[in-house]
Amino acid sequence: MRMRKKKRGEERLFALSSVVFPDIDSYCKKRAENGETSKIFEKELPLRLEIGCGKGDFICETSLRDDGYNYFAMEKVRDVIVVAAEKYASSRGLGALSPHGDWQGPDGHIYKDGERFDIPLEMRGNVRFILCDAAELDKLFEPCTFDTIYANFSDPWTKNGQAERRLTAPSFLSLYEKLLIPGGSFRFKTDNIQLFEYSLKTVRDSSLELSYFTHDLHGSEKNADNVQTEYEKNFAAKGVKINYLEAVKKS
Ligand SMILES: C[S@@+](CC[C@H](N)C(=O)[O-])C[C@H]1O[C@@H](n2cnc3c(N)ncnc32)[C@H](O)[C@@H]1O
Repeated sequence: MRMRKKKRGEERLFALSSVVFPDIDSYCKKRAENGETSKIFEKELPLRLEIGCGKGDFICETSLRDDGYNYFAMEKVRDVIVVAAEKYASSRGLGALSPHGDWQGPDGHIYKDGERFDIPLEMRGNVRFILCDAAELDKLFEPCTFDTIYANFSDPWTKNGQAERRLTAPSFLSLYEKLLIPGGSFRFKTDNIQLFEYSLKTVRDSSLELSYFTHDLHGSEKNADNVQTEYEKNFAAKGVKINYLEAVKKS
């Protein structure tokens, strides 16, 4: 996802670092302090992960609708994750971006010049963002951590020699298999039919079990539960059909 460079992106991310881990080390330090991944959150709930969360529409809506879970949203581009984190914080009543582009807390205080908004744990809600590449996933999480892993409209990497970067490449699928709990599922949506055909094949060849797929998610029985992402809304508005698959880790 291309984005114009955000004004003081690093500072804005740091202001909200109660809900965003700006790098792998800050996450690993916090997890070590808390002992377990689930203790990073106020309530101990089953965990879900979104990879490549973009500007955060999906995670903001899903985490409110399915609030019996805690969520990690991972994104590799800082200027993109900052938008997602700010969207989340404002949707949870934690303030808003000021007209000058600084974070303004609910009491009107403006966090600027490297000041951090220390949000009490009980106000942080059920999502934490991590600025990181999915290739680093196994440095962050223990095996059997997640109930569900989502990858929505990930980059198709169409050029020769780039297939290994696809989020449904065999190496990624075996990583997801390791991180899912038995019975947990990997859920994948894309507009790109070549990427989808490739993903059906890699899933079938993996140790995950393909449990569902459709070439028309919005026309399927799964549509009632579907939360649309930013990309999905754009594609749907143009009449593009959305491909979707679910794959389960065998018990
Ligand atoms: C095409 S956008 C889709 C964004 C959003 N999921 C949506 O559906 O609207 C793909 C996003 O995934 C992120 N991404 C791609 N590969 C990634 C990786 N290996 N690790 C983390 N994020 C990744 C990109 O930076 C980009 O923001």
